[in-house]
Amino acid sequence: MQDIATHTQLSALIRHRRSIKPVDMDGMRLVGRELLTQILEDATWAPTHGLTEPWKFIVHQGAARRRLAETMQQVYRETTPANEFREDKMKKMGENPLLSPVVIACVMERRGGAKIPEVEEIEAVACALQNLQLSATAAGLGCYWSSPPLLGTREFAEWLQIGAEDRCVGLIYLGWPRVGLNWPRSVRQPVETKTQWRDD
Ligand SMILES: Cc1cc2nc3c(=O)[nH]c(=O)nc-3n(C[C@H](O)[C@H](O)[C@H](O)COP(=O)(O)O)c2cc1C
Repeated sequence: MQDIATHTQLSALIRHRRSIKPVDMDGMRLVGRELLTQILEDATWAPTHGLTEPWKFIVHQGAARRRLAETMQQVYRETTPANEFREDKMKKMGENPLLSPVVIACVMERRGGAKIPEVEEIEAVACALQNLQLSATAAGLGCYWSSPPLLGTREFAEWLQIGAEDRCVGLIYLGWPRVGLNWPRSVRQPVETKTQWRDD
């Protein structure tokens, strides 16, 4: 138990995590399998109602990233109404997976049956993905959660080979921050504006 981070350290880690875009990652520097496995294992220690553990991680590296990029472009082209189609989005879908050494398709695998509502299994996966991002941040990696609408299409689900009730909730891009990157800043509203105290 001595290795457990202090509250101060954990709080600092949570606040340090930022979304690091693939363009700000070093696409040539690989992430070792052992580290990736540890990060994914940390993800699985998320709370899960009924211990259904509804997460599945489909990890794309090397040439698999190109197949992912090509599939996203194809599904985007096929499923986007003409008046919503954007050439810049299409281009990014082709580029992003190649800028980052690891792209994880994060899936909610429906396991709860009638007992656990779908939303709770999605929530459990979201908890897992925050664990994943914090673990990656602690290791010095950058990470970025992307959720283009095409993730919800039947075509993309079929390509991932996930079940009809399963749902890809996001792509997590992981990679070492590029040399010289200025760590992004972000802001949050004061917590008082989000809190209502009921003490009496
Ligand atoms: C469920 C979820 C989906 C997200 N999808 C996208 C996305 O599609 N594109 C994007 O640029 N950022 C996406 N983000 C990341 C947010 O834009 C980011 O967390 C927010 O801007 C705050 O920045 P920070 O992560 O650096 O604190 C997503 C975050 C969550 C939690």
